[in-house]
Amino acid sequence: MNYSLQMPIKHLPIYIIGAGGIINTAHLPAYKIAGFDVQGIYDIDFTKAETTAKNFNIPNVFKKLDEMVHYDAGKRIFDIAVPGSQTISILNQLPDGASVLLQKPMGESFEQAREILQLVRKKKMNAGVNFQLRYAPYILAAKELINKNLIGELNDIEVNVNVYTPWDLWDFLVKSSRVEIMYHSIHYIDLIRNLLGNPLSMYAKTTKHTSMPELASVRSNIIMDYGDLTRANILTNHCHNYGIPKQQSYIKIEGSKGAIIINFGALINYPRGAADSFEYVLLNENEETEWKSMNIEGSWFPHAFIGSMAQVMLAAEGTIDRPDNSVEDCIHTMACVEAAYQSSEKGGISLQTMN
Ligand SMILES: NC(=O)c1ccc[n+]([C@@H]2O[C@H](COP(=O)([O-])OP(=O)(O)OC[C@H]3O[C@@H](n4cnc5c(N)ncnc54)[C@H](O)[C@@H]3O)[C@@H](O)[C@H]2O)c1
Repeated sequence: MNYSLQMPIKHLPIYIIGAGGIINTAHLPAYKIAGFDVQGIYDIDFTKAETTAKNFNIPNVFKKLDEMVHYDAGKRIFDIAVPGSQTISILNQLPDGASVLLQKPMGESFEQAREILQLVRKKKMNAGVNFQLRYAPYILAAKELINKNLIGELNDIEVNVNVYTPWDLWDFLVKSSRVEIMYHSIHYIDLIRNLLGNPLSMYAKTTKHTSMPELASVRSNIIMDYGDLTRANILTNHCHNYGIPKQQSYIKIEGSKGAIIINFGALINYPRGAADSFEYVLLNENEETEWKSMNIEGSWFPHAFIGSMAQVMLAAEGTIDRPDNSVEDCIHTMACVEAAYQSSEKGGISLQTMN
C-alpha cells in the first residue's frame, strides 16, 4: 500500500438515513470493503430502504426515523445522506451527543451551514461532513509524498475538469438555485483547503449553459487566493458533449521539489468512469527529470467514503478529539463556496471604468 489511512479500533454500528443513489453506489460498497457494521436504514420512501437493506444485508429497516432513534441506546453512528435541505430537520430529531456523518453540502446554503454548526454545538454532537475527496486513495498517496517533504513546499494546485455530466440524474438539482460550485466544485475547494488551509479570499465566475437552461450554473472558474506566491485554481466544464476522447479531469499539485498529476476517471464518460492514473516527479540536481507512475489501489468512489466515516468513528471512540472533517472545519469550505458565488455575482472590473 502506498498510502495510509487511520482506522478506528472499534467498528461502531452504523444507522443510515436516506437510501438513495450515493448510499447504494458509494457508502455501502465502501463500508463493505472496510468491514464496517451497518445495522439499520430508514428512508421516507420505505421501499427504497427495504430494497437497499436486501441488497446489502442490513438487518433493520425502519418505517419512521423516531423508531430508529429509539431502537438502540448504545454508541453508534448516524449516517445521513439526504438532500441538504433535510439535514437540519433530521439533526433536530437525533439525540444530544450523537455521532453523525452528514452528506455534503453542509445544508443547502451558507446560512444553513451556520445553523447546522450551531445545532451541533448546542446538542454537543460529534459531527463530520462527507467531503470524502480528502480521503481518496490517490489523495492519501499525494499526502504521503507531501508529508515526507518529497515535493517540497506547495506553490500551485490546479483542478481541471472537462466532461459531460448528466445533471438530470439528480432531481433535486433542477430546483436548486446553485448547482456546480455547491454540489461539485465544493469537493475541490474542500480538498485545496485541506492541503493549503483557508485562502485569503475567493474569486469566481460560474456560468450556465445554453443546452441546460433550466439548470443553475454548471461551469466554473474559481481562484482561491493564497497570496502572491501560491496559486490555486479550479476550472470545470460539465457540458463537453463532444464524445469521450477529449474529456479530461486532473488534479495537479506542484511544490518546490517535485510535482504530482492525478488523472481521475470518476467523471469521464459518466457514470461509467475511466481508469485513474497517478504520476509524480521529484527534482534532483544530479539526475534528469523523470516522471514516474504509481499504482494506487482503490479510487474516489467508493473507497474515499471509508475515510470520512473512519474519522467520525475515531472521534466517537475517543482516539481523536474531533474528526478531521468536522463541521467546525467544513464550515470554512461552505464559506469559500458562498464567497465564490458572491464573487461571481459581483462580477469583474467593468471596462467602462477604464476610460
Ligand atoms: N459526497 C459525494 O460525493 C456525494 C455524491 C452524490 C450525492 N451526494 C449528496 O448526498 C445526498 C443524497 O444524494 P443522492 O444522490 O443519494 O440523492 P437521491 O435523490 O438518490 O437520494 C436521496 C434519498 O433521500 C431520501 N430522503 C429525502 N428526504 C428524506 C428525509 N427527510 N428522511 C429520510 N430520507 C429522505 C429520498 O427518499 C431518497 O431516497 C445529497 O445531499 C447529495 O448532495 C454526495
